[in-house]
Amino acid sequence: MSQRKPLIAGNWKMYKTGPEAEATASRLAELVGKDESVDVMIAPPFTALALVDRVLNASPIALGAQNLHWEAEGAFTGEISPDMLKAAGCTYVIIGHSERRQYFGESDEGVNRKAKAALANGLKPVICIGESESQRDADETFSVLDKQVRLGLEGLPLRGPEDLVVAYEPVWAIGTGKTATKDQAQEVHAFIRKQLAHFFGQDMAAGIRILYGGSVKPDNIAALMAMPDIDGGLVGGASLKPEIFAEIIQFGA
Ligand code: 13P
Repeated sequence: MSQRKPLIAGNWKMYKTGPEAEATASRLAELVGKDESVDVMIAPPFTALALVDRVLNASPIALGAQNLHWEAEGAFTGEISPDMLKAAGCTYVIIGHSERRQYFGESDEGVNRKAKAALANGLKPVICIGESESQRDADETFSVLDKQVRLGLEGLPLRGPEDLVVAYEPVWAIGTGKTATKDQAQEVHAFIRKQLAHFFGQDMAAGIRILYGGSVKPDNIAALMAMPDIDGGLVGGASLKPEIFAEIIQFGA
């Protein structure tokens, strides 16, 4: 897995109130301790960010948000700016999750604007891409991913490979219990890394972390992470329970 440090990230989606998130994060921090062999990030809902940041204070676990707006401020009811996320303690921000693309009309162009705004404000974007089941069945996986990468990542001003994380999340594997096989995932990750090399050069691409997401569990993470281009996991459901998420983190380390 070369020089890339594994990253296990938890996307809590629209689960947990502030106090619930605080309790979960505090238990997770206990379980993870000071283990620095793997990077860990959790992305609670906006309303829990500041509270969770407080309990993660003495922990190496990093805080992430699940979305942001590209403008610095203004009359954008219901939106959250990069600066607000920074002030709440975020290091990472998930961008272009398939649920946002599917239910909230997010486009690759929007993803690109958001990623640029994140980077300009010192946040690391975790850019999600992935094909739907019908696209895979129609043999469109690579053309879909090619477009998502080309438009979403175009012109990102990376200073180093640690600035960007890409997450491959096949839509058919999210919340379904159906995981991509390690070979299916590896094939796609290698393809994505080739695309990254095209954009950012070989050296940069070799250092950018590409996570797999979609029904990651304690019993499948190790096999996935043994593949040469899989650098970690973006975990949904299994990240909500600290004991289970800690198990995944252990396997990822
Ligand atoms: P599940 O792990 O629940 O399949 O969700 C994956 C995901 O969407 C993470 O962003």
